[in-house]
Amino acid sequence: MSEERSPGDLTKQQTADISEAQIAVHWPEEDYFSPPNAFIAQANLTDAAVFQRFSLDKFPECFKEFADLLDWYKYWETTLDTSNPPFWRWFVGGTINACYNCVDRHLARHRNKTAIHFVPEPENEAIQHLTYQELFVRVNEFAALLREACGLKTGDRVTLHMPMVAELPITMLACARLGVIHSQVFSGFSGKACADRVSDSESRVLITMDAYYRAGKLLDHKEKADTAVDEAAKDGHKVDKVLIWQRHPGRYSSAAKLVQGRDVIVNDLLRDFRGTRVDPVQMPAEAPLFLMYTSGTTGRPKGCQHSTGGYLAYVTWTSRNIQDIHPEDVYWCMADIGWITGHSYIVYGPLALAASSVVYEGVPTHPDAGRPWRIAEDLGVNIFHTSPTAIRALRREGPEEPAKYHHRFKHMTTVGEPIEPAVWKWYHSAVGKGEAVIVDTWWQTENGGFLCSTVPGLAKMKPGSAGPGIPGIHPVIYDDDGKELPAGSGRAGNICIRNPWPGSFQTIWKDPERYVRQYYARYCKNPKSKDWRDWPYMAGDGAVQAADGYYRILGRIDDVINVAGHRLGTKEIESAALVVAEVVEAAVVPVADEIKGKVPDLYVALKPGLAASAEIANRVSAAVVSGIGAIARPRRVIIVPDMPKTRSGKIMRRVLAAISNRQDPGDVSTLANPEVVDRIRELAK
Ligand code: WT7
Repeated sequence: MSEERSPGDLTKQQTADISEAQIAVHWPEEDYFSPPNAFIAQANLTDAAVFQRFSLDKFPECFKEFADLLDWYKYWETTLDTSNPPFWRWFVGGTINACYNCVDRHLARHRNKTAIHFVPEPENEAIQHLTYQELFVRVNEFAALLREACGLKTGDRVTLHMPMVAELPITMLACARLGVIHSQVFSGFSGKACADRVSDSESRVLITMDAYYRAGKLLDHKEKADTAVDEAAKDGHKVDKVLIWQRHPGRYSSAAKLVQGRDVIVNDLLRDFRGTRVDPVQMPAEAPLFLMYTSGTTGRPKGCQHSTGGYLAYVTWTSRNIQDIHPEDVYWCMADIGWITGHSYIVYGPLALAASSVVYEGVPTHPDAGRPWRIAEDLGVNIFHTSPTAIRALRREGPEEPAKYHHRFKHMTTVGEPIEPAVWKWYHSAVGKGEAVIVDTWWQTENGGFLCSTVPGLAKMKPGSAGPGIPGIHPVIYDDDGKELPAGSGRAGNICIRNPWPGSFQTIWKDPERYVRQYYARYCKNPKSKDWRDWPYMAGDGAVQAADGYYRILGRIDDVINVAGHRLGTKEIESAALVVAEVVEAAVVPVADEIKGKVPDLYVALKPGLAASAEIANRVSAAVVSGIGAIARPRRVIIVPDMPKTRSGKIMRRVLAAISNRQDPGDVSTLANPEVVDRIRELAK
């Protein structure tokens, strides 16, 4: 294995010296499962000709079918503009509003239908059912507040740091109505992590909530906004206003003081806007709808910029045909709206189709592992969507629970990490009662929507495999030398997508150069070319394609760890650890975990002369939690006398990862300090 590359340099040999793909679980090929006939009989997409309709020779005009699911103010003229690769522009000339498409256009037929079922975590608190009419009213009033009281206008960025409550989609849709670019930060992230995103996006307004329920506790959340504003100020960025929704309207549930002139209680101010209506702003198709920050190979998270027309068309088509959402369905995606899954498949996709979408505040296993099935039974949920981590946790804590309830799913999704066949089969038989079709959807924050999955009404399922590219997506696997692996070869390589698609992000906010370098440079056939065929998109995952065309995703090829289906950059965790004064070096490696898929182990070396202590280790762990959030908390902090290093002084993470995963580190004789390996193995016992 080669030495480490410099951070972010992905044009050279890309395989990090330890990648998740190398320690991925390699389970055997599985037999097929057929979609139930009852599912096929009602499915939105059962026409096998769809793959001809979306073959490469029909590209890009085939994507008209996606755009035609939406209402446009002005119909677009150019399907795809490729004049400045790889900055693709979709549906150019068209104007549209995302909020109009998710709310207003449904009023004529679905005014009185539930748009959002908000399920509070405390089981004794009543579920709220927001109709499309109510959603319309609340979005309009809040949009008026944003415009009149905060002076926000089209193109401004606003950071949201909100929990899983109905007010989150309301806030997003109000922004979309005005053409204000929202940037929602996962509520579990720390105030510091929020600050980085506030200042990178130059948000003058931060929208938060005073508190929310999680695992039985009412957590103070507003205090994080104070940290975020202070930390952003250190970065030279000033936040003018903090808008605070109340978790219990009429009552302030945080111990943090309100800052005069800066902090505003939304629920009070909204009274001034009762009955106000705001016309949706007619936005160009390529105007940004939102930013979604995600981790990469450097310490700095990157803001993926998503478009309005292309993105909305993509999530609507895939919600209709891969999620099989009909307007009469009750759909529950248990992800957090703070991640891309929630944006695309809790808010924008399902609401564009006039479905009822469930927003659940809390932990799936609270107060017990029967909770999701009670919610599903009570609301009549028939489409369910979650991650392998949640399925593993529910299976461990209550394998018999689903059988006790009368919920009936027609369709279930898994997303975010590879799912072990045994876990898939429990999902299928216990949760789905053998009656639900399953789709294993592979995609990323950058992609907007699904890339690989079976079409549920058309194809058989294979546990552990995502499936082929969805209609319109043409994957290819390259080896490290840039050669295409033959289709269906069963050999591992780097999965790429040959063609652009409307849901793809447009750039990295304020860093177009990194966008090109990170995703397109490595396999670009000719940097001068204006032909999209020369610009395959590199996902950064290892994958194999079986003879049947199904892809099995092996995991990241870069320094990204997938913890519980969420992406964390090793560099981000390491920089957070280096804040502790005693630490001179830090190295993070992924460790296989029964429930979460992967968890980080953090190795640190101290300044010369300092003795290791549990106290220092605890402070390092706390620094990671306050720098990023509890999700990044290391499984263990291991203080080592020195890192295993190459002769040129690079840390060999491969050796550390092998130790953490109880594997053989292989030949270490070429290290500068091979003697340290046994010592570390002792310490990591
Ligand atoms: C990474 C993207 C996009 C939804 C949530 C995660 C891994 C995603 C699968 C799947 C195996 C998967 C990949 C990918 N991943 N879905 N079905 N099977 N691996 O978004 O945080 O951007 O992470 O998650 O490694 O690159 P994300």
